[in-house]
Amino acid sequence: MIEIKQLTKCYGNLVALDHLDLTIASGTLFGFIGPNGAGKTTTLRMIAGVLEPTSGQIYLNGVDITKNVSQSKWSIGYMPDFFGVYEDMQVWEYLDFFARCYRLDATQRQHIVDELLELVDLGHKRMEWVQSLSRGMRQRLCLAQALVHDPQILLLDEPASGLDPRARIEIRELLKELSIMGKTIIISSHILTELDEMCHQVGIIEHGQLQYSGTPEGLINRHLERQLLFRTLANAEQVESALNMYSGVTGFHADGKGWHVKLQGDDIAMAGLLTHLIEHKLDIIHFMEKDRNLESIFMQVTKGDMARG
Ligand SMILES: Nc1ncnc2c1ncn2[C@@H]1O[C@H](COP(=O)(O)OP(=O)(O)OP(=O)(O)O)[C@@H](O)[C@H]1O
Ligand SMILES: [Mg+2]
Repeated sequence: MIEIKQLTKCYGNLVALDHLDLTIASGTLFGFIGPNGAGKTTTLRMIAGVLEPTSGQIYLNGVDITKNVSQSKWSIGYMPDFFGVYEDMQVWEYLDFFARCYRLDATQRQHIVDELLELVDLGHKRMEWVQSLSRGMRQRLCLAQALVHDPQILLLDEPASGLDPRARIEIRELLKELSIMGKTIIISSHILTELDEMCHQVGIIEHGQLQYSGTPEGLINRHLERQLLFRTLANAEQVESALNMYSGVTGFHADGKGWHVKLQGDDIAMAGLLTHLIEHKLDIIHFMEKDRNLESIFMQVTKGDMARG
């Protein structure tokens, strides 16, 4: 379990991270989402032990890792957002080099290098020079590098940024697999929709402050202005009067498809609206929620106009 308490980082007068509190249970796939400059990289670097906090603590299974940096490195694999790779090495040699740094013996190294190349789909590039790899391939090589010592925790700073759509999907599948294997994974991104489907938990950060932490569904339920569509046999006057009575309805209009309603509220509020319409003797023949637009939620949350949670 990772417990972050009141973690703060200042660069001169700039408060890049402002008293962050966050708990991530073991085995969680956690999506850390925020716009440019929000403080994601700063946070990940402090967890990885390569940047010293100004104040606050980071506990790993109860041990404050800001005081035990060298020890925690064995349990953490970190893939930074910008990586310098040693270019004058062959792909297998590159991973072998890092495996040596973790003092694995020759047999273990051979085994882990083969396994990792297979995992990130670079087996066919094994004998190539690192400098000949494409950006996306380098990114996958860096992911393999972060896994060399089989860490319990993986910190991935925008691992999909240079990848094509197919490779993005493959990385996503790979992360799901690693998560099923029991690893705790923290992955950062600007894009909520890229992560919401695979993450157990998401944290949304802006200006160094956590705006939301919880399940992706919870975010939708709490914050989304839902768009509903229903059809009824009742006349417009009856419908308008019923909708005007229901709190949470923030707007509505009718067109050829039916009645479009904006509702601020969770699943219970939505179910309540349907009951309300039926109780008002509106004969409903269709009732559905239109597409949830996660990007619009993200925009709402990072505008800073949401309550912290
Ligand atoms: N070494 C540094 N010196 C001074 N300011 C820094 C330094 N590193 C980061 N910052 C500032 O701290 C804030 C947070 O930066 P950080 O890199 O953590 O954001 P981020 O969420 O990772 O952004 P991005 O999505 O662009 O990667 C920014 O305002 C940035 O300019
Ligand atoms: Mg960053």
